[in-house]
Amino acid sequence: MKKMWEGRFHKETNKLLEKFNASITFDKRMYEEDITGSIAHSRMLAKQGIISENEQKEIENGLLQIKEEIQNGKFEFKIEDEDIHMSIEKRLTQIIGSVAGKLHTARSRNDQVALDVRMYVRKEAHEISKLLVKMENVLLELSEKYKNVIIPGYTHLQRAQPILFSHHLMAYFQMFKRDISRIKDFLERSDEMPLGAGALAGTTFDLDRHFVAKELGFSKPTENSLDSVSDRDFIIELAMIISVISMHLSRFSEEIIIWCTSEFSFINLDDAFATGSSIMPQKKNPDIAELVRGKTGRIYGNLMGILTTMKALPLAYNKDMQEDKEGIFDSIDNIKLSIEIFYSMLNTLTVNNEKIYASMKSGFLNATDVADYLAKYDVPFRQAHKIVGEIVSYCEDKKIAIDDMKLEEFHKFSDIFKDDILSEITIENCVNKRNSFGGTSIKNVEMQIENGKKFLQAL
Ligand code: ARG
Repeated sequence: MKKMWEGRFHKETNKLLEKFNASITFDKRMYEEDITGSIAHSRMLAKQGIISENEQKEIENGLLQIKEEIQNGKFEFKIEDEDIHMSIEKRLTQIIGSVAGKLHTARSRNDQVALDVRMYVRKEAHEISKLLVKMENVLLELSEKYKNVIIPGYTHLQRAQPILFSHHLMAYFQMFKRDISRIKDFLERSDEMPLGAGALAGTTFDLDRHFVAKELGFSKPTENSLDSVSDRDFIIELAMIISVISMHLSRFSEEIIIWCTSEFSFINLDDAFATGSSIMPQKKNPDIAELVRGKTGRIYGNLMGILTTMKALPLAYNKDMQEDKEGIFDSIDNIKLSIEIFYSMLNTLTVNNEKIYASMKSGFLNATDVADYLAKYDVPFRQAHKIVGEIVSYCEDKKIAIDDMKLEEFHKFSDIFKDDILSEITIENCVNKRNSFGGTSIKNVEMQIENGKKFLQAL
């Protein structure tokens, strides 16, 4: 037998077509899902009396042997076997003979592949979520370690207001927390088992799809056979979630890159997590962050690829859908690598506290606090804003910071200022007075860290 489907054909398949049509080079990574699905299917066939118990045992043992062969690198994947489904079935025939042919009763490759790829991406989504949890733990540890470090906060990449370094880190904690919850939603929504849909219309056999669903760890079978074999929403959804994770990582990467510059020098990367230049001996480059930022491009590309492949496809299965795999596999591989290397890098970086602190004098980071001071003495905020604007301009002319001003100088702008003005606008005060819920005060950040820990424990 050359091809499983050779019956109606009179000629051998063109070699180029064989190569073009094959998906074995990339779908072989779903071998475990394919075998697990086949075992569940065979058990159901036996339970329903469609095949005998003995036949089922032979099939199951043969499949387990194949699994071992693949895991021990003894299985030969051949282009002419087209895909993982037919490669395994062909080998099963070699091992147990014609009984193997009963496995495909009441099944099509269309529902088979829909099951395999669904199980595969669900498994990987779970792995991604676990890596995100590790990232969250690193962020919590760093936030505690650097709880007393204050950095400038930015808007428009211009110095804005002082914030705790931990507050900045905990902002990323929130992003990854949403990513984890998106994966949870995705796992709930994709928790439907497509096998038993047949080629497109269901099957004439008396199947127990609920049994198969249970065997495979799904809570229920899919409800519409046409949708079962033509739905790839779950791939699109995971590709989208990975894109969002990658977007978050790329923002974080950008900040790491900026913080490492000599202009900023907020942090130092560990030597083990940085690279050098082949020509410039002084260089220490943040390649990890750059590459993670760069990979965002291909990850978005994979999302656009699958969306475009699925666009306007008529029901039910079309071969176009074989193009659903490489992109999502690539996104999965790259996001897993990116998350793991990124949190390892974070875990080893050090913060240049003194250097940051010394630099905090410039940039009028406490200007808002001076305006708030006036507003608390009943000056309308708009007017207070204008007064402090004039103070900033005065300081710029004199090349001094607001806190270098004497009380008499403050009085040139408003006689409301009291002698507590300077102690009110220290950097520490600016941070700790931002105690509104969600603000950067140490009390709030400690609460965020506590809530973060609770979130992870509840997972
Ligand atoms: N390799 C195929 C895929 O990945 C399996 C399904 C083939 N079905 C078919 N009717 N040709 O989509």
